[in-house]
Amino acid sequence: MGIKRIGVLTSGGDAPGMNAAVRAVLRTALYHGIECYGILRGYNGLINADVIRLDEKRVSHIINRGGTVLYTARSKEFMTEEGQKKAASTCKFLGLDGIVAIGGDGTFRGAQALSKCGVNVVCIPATIDNDICCTNYSIGFDTAANTAIDCIDKLRDTMQSHERCSVVEVMGRNAGYLAMYVGLAVGATAVLVPESPIDLQKDVVEKIRQARLNGFTHYMIVVAEGAGSASDIANQIHDALDLDPRVTVLGHIQRGGTPTARDRVNATKMGYLAVELLRAGKTNRVICTDQGGFVDIDISEGLSRQKLPLQLEADVLAAMTGI
Ligand code: F6P
Repeated sequence: MGIKRIGVLTSGGDAPGMNAAVRAVLRTALYHGIECYGILRGYNGLINADVIRLDEKRVSHIINRGGTVLYTARSKEFMTEEGQKKAASTCKFLGLDGIVAIGGDGTFRGAQALSKCGVNVVCIPATIDNDICCTNYSIGFDTAANTAIDCIDKLRDTMQSHERCSVVEVMGRNAGYLAMYVGLAVGATAVLVPESPIDLQKDVVEKIRQARLNGFTHYMIVVAEGAGSASDIANQIHDALDLDPRVTVLGHIQRGGTPTARDRVNATKMGYLAVELLRAGKTNRVICTDQGGFVDIDISEGLSRQKLPLQLEADVLAAMTGI
């Protein structure tokens, strides 16, 4: 029997491109004559039956908007077995034949729990951190990286004029993918990430010293938030080199803004694929990038994978910095 009604939710930290994915889910559903409901505030919306009927009008002109029109949350109640059972019974009550859950690995764990309660769920990876082990691309990363790059390029103008050192903290939670990518793109003097143990003398002080010896008079240090506080690092640079670094924490600005073409197009493809998977009767699946295309894998397998270290990025950064 074909599916008649599905729900879509966004959960965890928002990411630019989530709206494009929601739009694609709705449009694909309508294309197949399936009703589509937006579940508000992530898994909380499922617990409280907080849903809205989606139609073409509701999702028109959102492909270009950051954030998520469905709102998002990190639901504490859904982490309990009771919350998960309530959410599953809402799906039954509303007659939802499947759910598309858009978010990061916390969202996937929620989807896994829901799937165990008998609900068909397909996940779409979306987080600016790009820290999901089973995919090397997640919606929002590209936009966040471009936002951070734009901000750092602006910072560089004033750092250059004043011949200063800048320490910029970028998001990424416990992962350094965003910081590494951004560091490569802005030509940072040094990049600190949580994946590698930090030797401040070698990784920062010596690189600044070498840059000065090579004639540079301003220095851009990119720090992943998981690698430590930018202020602490600035203080240590001050103590070691008698510089007076300026600290910038880019913060939540990285989570907003118009999604890039890459995020919009991938979100649209993934939204389409998610509905096709539900139509094929699949559940507990996550869509991942694979060799330039997309595949779907079991969520449990996805969550058990190890994220590969960005060895090439690390090697390239080692060659590019401190010259
Ligand atoms: O996971 C996305 C992210 O933006 C992380 O980079 C960051 O550590 C965290 O969310 C911030 O969360 P909140 O919006 O709750 O402050």
